[in-house]
Amino acid sequence: MAAALLIDDVTVEFGSFRAIDALSLAIDFGEVRAVIGPNGAGKTTMLDVVSGITRAKQGRVVFDDAIDITRTSESEIARAGVRRKFQKPSIFEGLDVRQHI
Ligand SMILES: Nc1ncnc2c1ncn2[C@@H]1O[C@H](COP(=O)(O)OP(=O)(O)OP(=O)(O)O)[C@@H](O)[C@H]1O
Ligand SMILES: [Mg+2]
Repeated sequence: MAAALLIDDVTVEFGSFRAIDALSLAIDFGEVRAVIGPNGAGKTTMLDVVSGITRAKQGRVVFDDAIDITRTSESEIARAGVRRKFQKPSIFEGLDVRQHI
């Protein structure tokens, strides 16, 4: 089945610590989802995998039913339109808002 974002059986480990354990999630085209969970549940880690910042030990992520994010560089994923915003904003003081974008 086609999905805008498919997270399929993704596991992430930091050393011997398993932060995400076989997570699967499919988001349809046009669908808006919110992910909630307690501190340390793995929300940020999940977004890091989706944006290529962190690599999954197992599983795959497919964007737009076409791009296998688990095999694509961070910059190519960004060019495809997927990027996360970081919790702590950092700006270039010499640039205005439009230039930042
Ligand atoms: N780079 C890392 N090295 C080791 N452990 C990590 C790393 N990043 C995250 N973790 C651990 O993985 C688990 C999931 O963390 P994550 O930051 O994804 O949770 P979260 O759901 O975003 O939490 P919060 O609600 O506090 O933002 C936590 O136990 C965290 O300590
Ligand atoms: Mg977080």
